[in-house]
Parts: sequence; C-alpha cells; structure tokens
Amino acid sequence: MDDMNHALKSELIKPSILYYGTPVVLLSTLNEDGTVNISPLSSSWALGDCIILGIGIGGKAFENIERHPECVINIPGPSLWENVEKLAPYTGKTNVPDYKRSIGYSYQKDKYGISELTPARSVTVKPTRIMECPIQVEAVVKHIRIPEHSPNFAIIETKAVHVHAHKEIIIEGNHIDPQKWSPLIYNFRHYFGLGKELGKSFRATT
Ligand SMILES: Cc1cc2nc3c(=O)[nH]c(=O)nc-3n(C[C@H](O)[C@H](O)[C@H](O)COP(=O)(O)O)c2cc1C
Repeated sequence: MDDMNHALKSELIKPSILYYGTPVVLLSTLNEDGTVNISPLSSSWALGDCIILGIGIGGKAFENIERHPECVINIPGPSLWENVEKLAPYTGKTNVPDYKRSIGYSYQKDKYGISELTPARSVTVKPTRIMECPIQVEAVVKHIRIPEHSPNFAIIETKAVHVHAHKEIIIEGNHIDPQKWSPLIYNFRHYFGLGKELGKSFRATT
C-alpha cells in the first residue's frame, strides 16, 4: 500500500484503553483466611504451559498472589458474561483504593455469592476452580515483575499444572473442540462470543 492510500485508511488516535479483544479469565486466588477471591481479567496470553497475566497492583488478586503463589485461571464462555459483569464493580480489598472508590468500586468478600458461581475443589492448588467455567487451569506462580515504565500493574508468569475441561467441549481425549468452545471476548469493554469459523491453520489437529 502506498503512503497516500495509507493516509486515507487510518488516522492517528489517542485511545484511553487498548482492550482490543482478548478472552476474559476469572482468576481464583487464596485470601488470607483460606477463602477464595475471584477477579475478572482480560490481560493474559498462553504459550506452552506458560500463562502470563497482567494484574493491577492495587487489587486483591495481586495481594493474594504475592502471599500465596497459586491460582486457578478459569475461562468462561459467552453465556457467563452476566456473571462476569456481576463481579465487575467489586474488589476483595477491604480498603478500597481511592481511585477505585471514585469510579464506583466497592468491597465484596463473597465473590462466589455475588456472581452466582460455584466452587469446586482443585487437584493440587488451594484456590478453588469455578465449576461453570468450561476450562479451568490450575497454575503456580513462577515470577512477578512490576515494569519500571508502568508500575501500576504486574506481569505475572504462571505455569499450568492441571487443565480441567467440561466433557462436552473435549474431542479425541486431550483436545478442546473449537466447534464447541468459544471464549468470552472483552472487546473495548464490550462482551462478545466468537463468530463463525473462517478456516483453520495448517497445524490444526482437530
Ligand atoms: C472483563 C474485565 C476484564 C478486566 N481485565 C483486567 C485485567 O486484565 N487486569 C486487571 O488488573 N484488572 C482487570 N479488570 C479489573 C479488575 O477485575 C478489577 O480491578 C477488580 O476490582 C479486581 O478484583 P480484586 O481487587 O478483588 O482482585 C477487568 C475487569 C473486567 C470486568
């Protein structure tokens, strides 16, 4: 594309957020009293058995992970968007940070109750899994880094130790059926499911 065409197709903008459409995850972490906190996140990526999370340092999830380096990365499908949104205005922090209070957050300890979701015991980690989420990944925290250039959040490196999947999305034993599974996508603060399939990679195994 030449420069002139490029100039016609795009414009420089300064967006306040860059949530360009990533799956929602519900992170279970262990509270100091042994109960479980749930935090909605959209900043994650997975490669091999590594799952990287972006977590604000003013939240309960970060506090919990620093104290107890285990979590469950629960991955909801589109039908759970309202349960996710029920969690959205809450933090598990008793002292709600001022900036959060000013935009409408309040304290809530019972995240399972408020979101109408159900805990299930994990195999090796202490935080519980969320039964309604079709994919639940038990993970251990391997590294926590707060970037000098952006000290409001932490980059958390985790290692998946157990992957649970609902029976109806499993195909051929150890695969997730992409025809049956859709993540819940957070697209510039709006929730979406996937559209119809466009094609598949030369490496697809299903
Ligand atoms: C769909 C959705 C996605 C979010 N993504 C993130 C995220 O990637 N990282 C983050 O720190 N907060 C994210 N948030 C905001 C947190 O959920 C919010 O700060 C919440 O209070 C965290 O709960 P906690 O303090 O109990 O951990 C997201 C919220 C929603 C509803």
